[in-house]
Amino acid sequence: MNIVVGITGGIAAYKAVNVVRALVLAGHDVHVVATENALRFVGRPTLEALSRNLVHSDLYEGVAEVRHVAIGQAADLIVVAPATANTIAKLAGGFADDLLGNTILASTAPLVIAPAMHTEMWQNPATAHNIEVLRSRGVTVVGPAVGQLTGKDAGPGRMSEPDDIVAAALAVVGPRDLVGKRILVTAGGTREPLDPVRFIGNRSSGRQGIALALAAAARGADVTLIAANLEVAAPASVAVVRVGSTLELADATTDAAASADVVIMAAAVADYRPEVVAERKIKKEQQGDVLDLRLVKNPDILKGLSEIRRPGQVIIGFAAETEPDAAALLELGRAKIARKGCDYLVINRVGWSEGFATESNTVTVIDRSGVTVVEASGTKTSVSDSILDLLA
Ligand code: C5P
Repeated sequence: MNIVVGITGGIAAYKAVNVVRALVLAGHDVHVVATENALRFVGRPTLEALSRNLVHSDLYEGVAEVRHVAIGQAADLIVVAPATANTIAKLAGGFADDLLGNTILASTAPLVIAPAMHTEMWQNPATAHNIEVLRSRGVTVVGPAVGQLTGKDAGPGRMSEPDDIVAAALAVVGPRDLVGKRILVTAGGTREPLDPVRFIGNRSSGRQGIALALAAAARGADVTLIAANLEVAAPASVAVVRVGSTLELADATTDAAASADVVIMAAAVADYRPEVVAERKIKKEQQGDVLDLRLVKNPDILKGLSEIRRPGQVIIGFAAETEPDAAALLELGRAKIARKGCDYLVINRVGWSEGFATESNTVTVIDRSGVTVVEASGTKTSVSDSILDLLA
């Protein structure tokens, strides 16, 4: 898609850089139209490098090619992030005194804005009225979130997280083929406590699970994300239940699965936990040179859910494996889906620099008979969409 990202002059412009990046990584042709004030907050070279296109800001550049309307006419989608109170007022009034105003007025593409300003400005009746005007015209307003603002203050007005903005924006133009479906996604990696300050964990960041949750919500699903120790911010646009250990994940997942149409177990779950959790910090002075830990097996949540699933409920497991050989990896997956009894298994190779904690992923999805039904490679968002296409 040809997507115009309008960046206006608020400090949140530095975060809008990640909106540009995520849209490019998702395979879109991104054209940044920045106001002069936006370029005081974030440099043109940064935006050009990330968008891989020239950044436009001057109304009187490219006059011969009628650029003030051409950019908007070519756009399939326009996202303004951050949208300052001033820009929102200008959009509500239909002003065209800069390139962004012209671009938006000359476009029939859906418009998504992510407001960012101090709480007082957001709550000012003028801004509230302008937002109502824009909504009544079909503009999608993402956020703002409640949280820490630029100064010492906190409250509503903080720009939504870039991933949430991207998901909401793509949802406006994407398929709505999961409306009415309740989808439960687990994400992250469990931590098994040894004592009050230590745990045994894994390197899963939660990115793939979050991408799945956001992509499913964008397609209209009612999503619950059970999040185990995420390394990145949890999305604000889906319901999030936070857990720590495998036993906590098991409880939360079993509860939520009862009413879910689909369960996607993307979390990396510890197979074993310490048999005894020390009440106080384990001291090396009392242990000597060797510390023996006895681990006991955790319940297999995926297997358990597959055994009790309702007719029609779809259960998807993940298999993160370090096997380098593709054929052997597939065989491991086939054996695993037979053991677990789920409907589909998403197989991905993980390692020191693969799969876990990265922005991209390569997966093979097999069904219960071991047949490959999806092969996908790319950003975790695009991989999510391939998995959800299968589901839809
Ligand atoms: O057996 P393995 O850990 O490789 O299986 C991975 C899949 O099983 C993942 O979907 C993971 O979320 C799930 N799992 C589970 N309970 C466990 C271990 C893994 O649900 N105790």
